[in-house]
Amino acid sequence: MPHRLDLPAGFRWGASTAAHQIEGAVDEDGRGPSVWDTFAARPSTVRDGHTGAVACDHYHRYPEDIALMKGLGLDGYRFSVAWPRIRPTGEGAVNPAGLDFYDRLVDALLAAGITPLPTLFHWDLPQTLEDAGGWLNRDTAYRFAEYTAIVADRLGDRVPAWITLNEPFVHMVYGYALGIHAPGRALMLDALPVAHHQLLAHGLAAAALHERGLDVLIANNLTPVWPASSADADLAAAQAYDVLHNRLFTDPLLLGRYPDLSAYGVGPDLGGSVHDGDLKLITATPLDGLGVNYYNPTRIAAPTEPGLPFAEAPIEGVPRTAFDWPVVPDGLRELLTGLRDRYGAALPPVTITENGCSTTEELDDTFRIDYLAGHLDALAAAVAQGVDVRGYYTWSLLDNYEWAEGYHQRFGLVHVDFETQQRTPKASYAWYRDLIAVHRARNVKRGW
Ligand code: FCB
Repeated sequence: MPHRLDLPAGFRWGASTAAHQIEGAVDEDGRGPSVWDTFAARPSTVRDGHTGAVACDHYHRYPEDIALMKGLGLDGYRFSVAWPRIRPTGEGAVNPAGLDFYDRLVDALLAAGITPLPTLFHWDLPQTLEDAGGWLNRDTAYRFAEYTAIVADRLGDRVPAWITLNEPFVHMVYGYALGIHAPGRALMLDALPVAHHQLLAHGLAAAALHERGLDVLIANNLTPVWPASSADADLAAAQAYDVLHNRLFTDPLLLGRYPDLSAYGVGPDLGGSVHDGDLKLITATPLDGLGVNYYNPTRIAAPTEPGLPFAEAPIEGVPRTAFDWPVVPDGLRELLTGLRDRYGAALPPVTITENGCSTTEELDDTFRIDYLAGHLDALAAAVAQGVDVRGYYTWSLLDNYEWAEGYHQRFGLVHVDFETQQRTPKASYAWYRDLIAVHRARNVKRGW
């Protein structure tokens, strides 16, 4: 019996991927190297030395993948554009073959009745820009705006809405503070300018998109923060974590100011990176929608050692994914109602731009079905409580290259055999297809 959900008419169903996780073809048609190629080539960075050189070979197999999307009945497909395919060194000459690829992809999606929802930056910075400081360098924001204009000029006649950045928090923390992801810098709090330069890049790109009549979103990784106890020290730690993970990347966009970072010993200029007028640039183009990537809540306790003003505490007594992430579906309702309570009228319509889980199940992935069903119930509960949620894009269409975990974490509705590139829909694929069909039919009936 397909799952029944009470969601608004016009609710959009989708699936998400990212360029470096699926495309492969890293040396083809003039693509330049990205930070992920360089990082993965270094020893002991990615599990088992896996690289994204081939991934799902989507660069060549995209027609087959679009057929799979069509089979699901998707309204929309979120993918990312690889900056190093468009401008191999991040500046200077444009690579026409790179633009041609996304042109073909967009046309094939539209022919299948699927709306393309591109993300302009999903972590694969051109290596040349990293060599000049990457996101620690303010210039990268201006290069991003130029690249955005180039892509929008080519595809904007067919692509109505764009996501500027994917998860600037995760990119800053994993890429520049801890060094777990590319570019592998371990700067701890000295990574904070990366937050501001990404937000500045968003603001400049958003202006370029709006000038062309296009809608603008950002995809933020957000988490409900649970204090480990009601002790003052745990509450203060939880508040400090919330500032870093959630508010640092959302307050400037919606409220036009940075949150108080004094718990980190950092002033409002984020290590000198915020120049006069920057916050105006960041908010000058209001978001048409907020993309929310939700995976799990975070439990936070007072720190036990000097350094950061918080420590992560385990969430016990809930199922865990293959990645060992706790499964808390109601966290999505809590997050969405919390956003509405925090930002009120400043909160634009929300779209879930990622949600899903990795499991070790091959094809009969009942764990994933339970995960998705639980989270969609929580989403419907948030809608019933008055939050304006317009769509849900599950992560992910295909098993793919899961960054530092290589090919070990499988998040797909479709199984990929990385030896043969054979795609096989899992049980969750059929479940999602039926859910979409039932929901659409109910909406039509209500329209009578
Ligand atoms: C998110 C990333 C996405 C994928 C999922 C599992 O943080 O945006 O690329 O890796 O996690």
